[in-house]
Amino acid sequence: MIVTNDLEVRVGARTLLNAPGQHLRVQPGDRIGLVGRNGAGKTTTMRILAGETEPYGGSVTRSGDIGYLPQDSREGNIEQTARDRVLSARGLDEIKRSMAKQHAIMEESEGAKRDKAIDRYSKLEERFAALGGYEADSEAAQICDNLGLEARILDQQLNTLSGGQRRRVELAQILFAATNGSGKSATTLLLDEPTNHLDADSIGWLRTFLSKHEGGLIMISHDVELLDAVCNKVWFLDAVRGEADVYNMGFSKYKDARALDEARRRRERANAEKKASALQKQAAKLGAKATKAAAAKQMLARADRMMNQLDEVRVADKVANISFPEPAPCGKTPMNAKGLTKMYGSLEVFAGVDLAIDRGSRVVVLGYNGAGKTTLLKMLAGVERTDGEGGIVTGHGLKIGYFAQEHDTIDGSQSVWENTINACPDANEQDLRSLLGAFMFSGDKLEQPAGTLSGGEKTRLSLATLVSSRANVLLLDEPTNNLDPISREQVLDALKTYTGAVVLVTHDPGAVKALEPERVIIMPDGDEDLWSDSYMEIVELA
Ligand SMILES: Nc1ncnc2c1ncn2[C@@H]1O[C@H](COP(=O)(O)OP(=O)(O)OP(=O)(O)O)[C@@H](O)[C@H]1O
Ligand SMILES: [Mg+2]
Repeated sequence: MIVTNDLEVRVGARTLLNAPGQHLRVQPGDRIGLVGRNGAGKTTTMRILAGETEPYGGSVTRSGDIGYLPQDSREGNIEQTARDRVLSARGLDEIKRSMAKQHAIMEESEGAKRDKAIDRYSKLEERFAALGGYEADSEAAQICDNLGLEARILDQQLNTLSGGQRRRVELAQILFAATNGSGKSATTLLLDEPTNHLDADSIGWLRTFLSKHEGGLIMISHDVELLDAVCNKVWFLDAVRGEADVYNMGFSKYKDARALDEARRRRERANAEKKASALQKQAAKLGAKATKAAAAKQMLARADRMMNQLDEVRVADKVANISFPEPAPCGKTPMNAKGLTKMYGSLEVFAGVDLAIDRGSRVVVLGYNGAGKTTLLKMLAGVERTDGEGGIVTGHGLKIGYFAQEHDTIDGSQSVWENTINACPDANEQDLRSLLGAFMFSGDKLEQPAGTLSGGEKTRLSLATLVSSRANVLLLDEPTNNLDPISREQVLDALKTYTGAVVLVTHDPGAVKALEPERVIIMPDGDEDLWSDSYMEIVELA
């Protein structure tokens, strides 16, 4: 159970959330969807609820176990194997290690030393069994399998895994802890965008798992279907008002209720506007008389305050009108890839993939999790080399715009502004400022270190730097992950009108629809085919 007391959340000088009293509480049986625009403060608030950071004001009371999945999981001991990481949830990895140690002593030594090791081993083994250690192995493997982690990955060290695989291991670890062997669980789960990097099968499995979870759950997600299936409550975070609205109902009812609330607020705003302008007129009249000057001044100040508040709401409601760049001119086939190959040791992910990207062509890369779609894009982008003879033949005028799944193209230590300038050193400063404005970066936001941006803001920044570059081949790896529904629509609208070539990796059917692809590449074989709608099913599976 988690309860907040007079919680106040701030970043820098900005208040994201004021929650008087015990406004936010999670009890067993609660399955709460935490929603709001990108940058509203969902992740920040969840970190505070999880006890990762202290709030600016107030406090949080927690009882029982908590399983927290961060939006971005890159910390922790990265030399562990994936299996140990998952098992560590119940301390089983420690016991297993001690068992192995005693086992080695048993093999090597004799007499009393050996007897002692046998004794220790059997005690450890007893504890291991009591904690469900033997079933745990297969239970953990089952969860991993359901999350699309292949068996071979479990024996790899975390630092050899891709970001997406790491994240699935973290999720497996938390869910494994929450199953607790007995099936029932009192663990409070705090999950920050758990479906990023998951395929449709895994999302389906997760949906069932979470809707049965009894221990209390807060989930941040932009996935409407998932929210609909899992949640029985919704918290809507609005950083402009600095409030969290609590809706004690499922997601579809919440949507209706919020639409009503917003209509009411719009009406109130219109009224306030009327009032403010009436005040201003009055003040102008009064101001003419010297004796009433003080009253007039007060009235004006009140009107100003009202107007300011309204402006803030208007700015926040603003939606960016994004358009991708007019591509720089290029030859008929700006990019030609030959014999691309990816090996892990002796294990072949894909081999001998050929691919020609013609000017303005639209290609979707399909394939199951781990088929090498992200790696293929990295090779096309030139950030990873092929493991063999082949390579990329650059055509006349090629200008690549690469959008990476894990935002590796952003320098976290540099500010938003510096990142943009670096991506496009010869651009006109004024043009860049208005471009960033369209992506809703202005004022203080420009000076913020990019590493502190929210997930969706990072996605927006990566896209903004792409837009400024006049690329004629866009390589897009899951460009809609992390985006709130409104921002996602904007990006997809922009994609529709872009005239350059696009190679897209996504599991978002809406993104494929927006692209209207001509061709598909099916990994790991690299087979090419003309697009037909029957491929849409594979998009969702991929
Ligand atoms: N050090 C900082 N200085 C200024 N602003 C910051 C700092 N750290 C975070 N922020 C801002 O706080 C806001 C809240 O971030 P948070 O990650 O909580 O958002 P979010 O709701 O999870 O968004 P998303 O949906 O994109 O994940 C963002 O606008 C972010 O840029
Ligand atoms: Mg977030």
